Amino acid sequence: MSRMIVPHTTPTPDSDGAPRATRTVRKAVVPAAGLGTRFLPATKATPKEMLPVVDKPAIQYVVEEAAAAGLDDVLMITGRHKRAIEDHFDNAFELEQALTAKGDTVRLDAVRDPARLGDIHHIRQGDPLGLGHAVLCARHHVGDQPFAVLLGDDLIDPRETLLSRMLEVRDQYGGSVVALMEVPPEQIHLYGCAAVEPSGEDGVVRVTGLVEKPSRENAPSRYAVIGRYVLDPAVFGVLERTPPGRGGEIQLTDALQELATGGTVHGVVFDGLRYDTGDRADYLRTVVRLACARDDLGPEFVAWLKEFVAGLEEDGGQERNRLAA
Ligand code: UTP
Repeated sequence: MSRMIVPHTTPTPDSDGAPRATRTVRKAVVPAAGLGTRFLPATKATPKEMLPVVDKPAIQYVVEEAAAAGLDDVLMITGRHKRAIEDHFDNAFELEQALTAKGDTVRLDAVRDPARLGDIHHIRQGDPLGLGHAVLCARHHVGDQPFAVLLGDDLIDPRETLLSRMLEVRDQYGGSVVALMEVPPEQIHLYGCAAVEPSGEDGVVRVTGLVEKPSRENAPSRYAVIGRYVLDPAVFGVLERTPPGRGGEIQLTDALQELATGGTVHGVVFDGLRYDTGDRADYLRTVVRLACARDDLGPEFVAWLKEFVAGLEEDGGQERNRLAA
């Protein structure tokens, strides 16, 4: 199967402010070193990023999203017990041989696809000291270039184009760009939250401050930061001196707060489909939604689902109880 990558270009000013040759945003960083405690015991020996969403692990959708936006150099931040991620994006010699011998080209492609998504690199975080620390681990690989960060358990529906829009906004304004979603006030304590001002452009805001998991009372807005970022390399210098914050972790939000104070952070407001597959209920919703959207499985699955839901409605949830018994 061939894959077309359209590199995304970011013009950057020279030190004297004059336009310089265009620079390419090619690199994506995928933090996947977290412990996944919300999904135990499934995540005791299996990385949460490897939990299947229909028939692909969650992290494959994330890398496919990066590739679709033209980012063909992907650095995974992994850790102990995350070998399955490395194996998934590698060749699988025996499996490929067996499928070749059978002439099963469809499954052969499915096995080969993950390794073809780009140049995939891995680095270990050591100890999971927080998302900010995970991003800092990418410093040498990324160098002095803007780069994207896609959280390995956070899925944006494959039909959306959020990341490409964020890369355009980085082109336009420079600095860093975060993805924001409006959430109900009672959920804001689960997210980083942004204080914002209008930018004059529809769907784009200036971020004036950021706070990690604020209480409902202290939240500056209902804009939650979700797991997509386009970051200026200036973030590394800030992260290096960012002390542990909420939960004793080095928080990316705290570093972005400093950059926001300097007026260099914008937000793209997203109102599409996004799933946190590290959360059990959201994981279930993800599987159902994406299964329904599949050409091969969808029609049969939707028919069954309708029947199942009708059954639940008729007997007031008794079927659920019967099955659980
Ligand atoms: P989460 O907070 O969702 O991950 O971090 P977690 O700590 O694994 O989750 P729970 O609460 O225990 O279930 C968001 C992303 O940042 C990565 C995670 O793998 C996830 O993709 N992360 C988090 C790291 O890579 N390193 C860390 O130290 C922390």
